[in-house]
Amino acid sequence: MKRHPALQPFSRDHNVGLVFARRIERGDAVAEEFAKLWAEELDAHFRDEEALLGPLVGDDTRNRLVAEHRAIRELAESVATADLGRLGRLLDAHIRWEERELFPAIEASASEAELAALGRRTTVIEATRSSSTWAPRRGELNRSRQQNSTD
Ligand SMILES: [Fe+2]
Ligand SMILES: [Fe+2]
Repeated sequence: MKRHPALQPFSRDHNVGLVFARRIERGDAVAEEFAKLWAEELDAHFRDEEALLGPLVGDDTRNRLVAEHRAIRELAESVATADLGRLGRLLDAHIRWEERELFPAIEASASEAELAALGRRTTVIEATRSSSTWAPRRGELNRSRQQNSTD
């Protein structure tokens, strides 16, 4: 099923995370680089998900979201000495859970009004990261989507 537009900015962030997790797996990523990804994108992504998606799900799901973020955050904040392989595996598994379970659950349970409000927020959030070095085409894609939506 196609991802609801309100969640697509988060899903596009997930592509960046999955690419990085795969690089860790290949031994092709270093701690300093992860620290940069964390500071520039992931930390904010986690906070935005908790703030915007937390209210849309039940207690168990919200607890899992926050607990998985906390486990990754702990490693990310001590990445120089952390087990980078474990960090990559946790990140990969977390993103897959969100894409396979969390996002479909929200698409099924949230009202149209909730999804519309979510979409307004995620569009603004993504626009603030238009010049990201992690997703070089993000700015260009943002502009073309905005163009299409006003056509
Ligand atoms: Fe997350
Ligand atoms: Fe996420």
